[in-house]
Amino acid sequence: MWVQGARMDEILPDSCKVVSVLGRKIALFNVDGELFATDNACPHAGGQLGEGDLDGHTVTCPFHAFQYDVRTGACVEGQADAVETVRVKIDDNLVLFEV
Ligand code: FES
Repeated sequence: MWVQGARMDEILPDSCKVVSVLGRKIALFNVDGELFATDNACPHAGGQLGEGDLDGHTVTCPFHAFQYDVRTGACVEGQADAVETVRVKIDDNLVLFEV
């Protein structure tokens, strides 16, 4: 099921944010106008990836600086499990998440 969690104008290019969808926290990433989403909780120790630093397709966790590829959820250097990705799409100005 697709559920609205944000508006496109709330997520600027090359930025990220935390959104709440049916009580689930999701990290939303805008990479040069293309959206990606993952679970918000870092698999290492629960850092909020939606409050991390985004550089291209890589987000750096604000807790211990592990890095994840927002396209696949993979931990770049393999120190932790992958973070779960969430399908996301845009409908007009609405950002929808598959939950
Ligand atoms: S909680 Fe994310 S790197 Fe440790």
